[in-house]
Amino acid sequence: MARVVVISGGGTGIGFGVAEAFAADGEQLVLVGRRAEVLDRAAARLRTAFPGIPAPLAVAADLADPAGAEHAAKAVGERWDRVDVLVNSAGGNAALGAPADRTGGLAGTAWHWEQNFRANTLTAVLLTEALKDRLATPGGRVVLVSSIAAYRGSGSGSYGGSKAALHPYAYDLSAELGPRGVTVNVVAPGYVADTEFFRGALSAERERTLVAQTDTGRAGLPEDVAATVRWLASPEAGQITAQVVQVNGGAERGR
Ligand SMILES: NC(=O)c1ccc[n+]([C@@H]2O[C@H](COP(=O)([O-])OP(=O)(O)OC[C@H]3O[C@@H](n4cnc5c(N)ncnc54)[C@H](OP(=O)(O)O)[C@@H]3O)[C@@H](O)[C@H]2O)c1
Repeated sequence: MARVVVISGGGTGIGFGVAEAFAADGEQLVLVGRRAEVLDRAAARLRTAFPGIPAPLAVAADLADPAGAEHAAKAVGERWDRVDVLVNSAGGNAALGAPADRTGGLAGTAWHWEQNFRANTLTAVLLTEALKDRLATPGGRVVLVSSIAAYRGSGSGSYGGSKAALHPYAYDLSAELGPRGVTVNVVAPGYVADTEFFRGALSAERERTLVAQTDTGRAGLPEDVAATVRWLASPEAGQITAQVVQVNGGAERGR
């Protein structure tokens, strides 16, 4: 029987790579994001690439909003009595899209912290809380996508801080759900190419710097992160919980 795999941010970048990895296993995918047209295109691409899979469900919702998370959970609950795998990939660095009037002063600082907390912490926590009672028992899997910024900072602190907040959340949730046979883990990528994360504004020089910080001499790809998520979601990984797995080609050590 196909597993029900819910992927926030599943329409683009790392989330879409995760969707491809689970589609290759024939799973029932649920893609959640704010832009319906992006999700519909992603679902169509998956069906073309993996013709045998069950039709992916696309749910448009703002997961930083409790009502959005409830809407997504309801859409899932109307169709299936359980969620086997929940991957929280929705997020991004609010600083990269900050309006000009939100860059200075204390008001600008507050905006950055609030927006990053909403985009990265709340999106993951609210969807997980909305679905946790329906996680397959035993065997359910929760994966949260953090960042190398949780270890190294992110310039202003607010993006890295909003990702670092997911780590103790995962530890506490693992303790809560472990007795049900559900694991909770975090994957923290370094620089990953082929995503919308940098909103098309990553300079060639900055990209060279990020690649030069790796031991592997290359950018990460969505499939690198997806392979780690797929492994953590496998039945064989049932004893791995409350862990943070970094996928960064060694870049956290710094160069
Ligand atoms: N790319 C990197 O170098 C990198 C490195 C470390 C960690 N990460 C993390 O990896 C995750 C995936 O990012 P990505 O690199 O794949 O970038 P991406 O292509 O921009 O993906 C982010 C996804 O999250 C969705 N999203 C954002 N805010 C949302 C909200 N409030 N509600 C619902 N969906 C929301 C976006 O869709 P909508 O805009 O349609 O909502 C988009 O599909 C993020 O958490 C990011 O912080 C990325």
